[in-house]
Amino acid sequence: MAERLSPAELERILSLDEFEPLARERMDPVGFEYVAGGSWDEISLREAAEAWRTKRFIPRVLTDVRSADPAGSFLGRLARIPVAMAPMAVQQLAHPDGEVEAVRGAAAAGIPYTLSTASSRSIEDVAAAAHDAERWFQLYLIDSLEYSRSLVERSTAAGYRAIILTVDLPVVGHRLRDLRSGFTFPPQPHVDQATQFRDSPYGAIAEQQELGLNWDRVGEIRTWTHLPVILKGILSPLDAARAADEGVTGIIVSTHGARQLDRVIAAAEALAPIVDAVAGRTEVWVDGGIRSGLDILMAFALGATGTLIGRPLYWALAAGGAAGIERAVAILHEETRIAMSLLGVERPGLLERSFIA
Ligand code: FNR
Ligand code: LAC
Repeated sequence: MAERLSPAELERILSLDEFEPLARERMDPVGFEYVAGGSWDEISLREAAEAWRTKRFIPRVLTDVRSADPAGSFLGRLARIPVAMAPMAVQQLAHPDGEVEAVRGAAAAGIPYTLSTASSRSIEDVAAAAHDAERWFQLYLIDSLEYSRSLVERSTAAGYRAIILTVDLPVVGHRLRDLRSGFTFPPQPHVDQATQFRDSPYGAIAEQQELGLNWDRVGEIRTWTHLPVILKGILSPLDAARAADEGVTGIIVSTHGARQLDRVIAAAEALAPIVDAVAGRTEVWVDGGIRSGLDILMAFALGATGTLIGRPLYWALAAGGAAGIERAVAILHEETRIAMSLLGVERPGLLERSFIA
């Protein structure tokens, strides 16, 4: 397997898409396919990035852009760019230190890091690796409600600042690449090893449906912590309006990286109607196929208040460890800064629908 990239090699990478082939050379093929893959025919996977790229900007001119700065904010705290690292399972597939290395990269880059329930390092070890950094905990209900509650309590105690409750995985999507390769999750510290492989290669998280995640349960989970709760995986304006009615802090418009339902609406298409439905009552973040500064700014023009990026940061971790994630964020920062000046805005939040054709 190839060595991790040197600082000089990382500097020569100029776009996020370059990380995937570099990661492929450095990952076990079965793990690589798990990360890269989508569900069924991967129709939605192929469309996700393209959906951002088919939209067109209308720039403004003669505005003052001398202090154009792509900084964003999540839950009132500054981020170097308005991008968070999406929760992604078992990051030891990319790097021996997994999430511990990844959180260091996100912290150094100045973006929030989301730890998956299905992680390969513990809540506490990841917290210790980047104590002061903006960290969130993504919750899957596993084993029992009591045990799931203990995960929320541990992450609250360990200084995570939000609970990202994933709501689009009642069952795991139909993933042919994993069925063909025989992929199974490596051990995870938050999952009881006795139950891990009971019925599914994805272990305990595959049992979400049995633990009954519904709107009532969301209300119950919110009583487990004082942290803000964000619902991840909303695509219908009806669900978005319900989330706002229930008073959740935020929602993430997401297809789960096209790994759940196939032939599902692209996040880029779902976003605007959802922004309209919540009418400013909640944060609206979006992920899926965001690959460049232009995608980030398109999301803002459509009304998003933040974005998340998944696979490219997994590939960056595999290619260059923490420094790889830093390089990916530096690329996005540069792309976003240049594009903002060309769009005629000094902050991403100043974009709105009049900037889109
Ligand atoms: C994910 N995703 C995910 N989501 C989540 O809520 N909990 C999880 O544990 C995981 N695990 C996971 C593993 C891998 C390998 C991938 C690629 C994705 C979904 C993820 O948070 C995010 O929604 C998508 O990855 C965003 O799409 P892009 O940026 O990968 O196109
Ligand atoms: C996935 C799960 C773990 O998408 O969220 O693989």
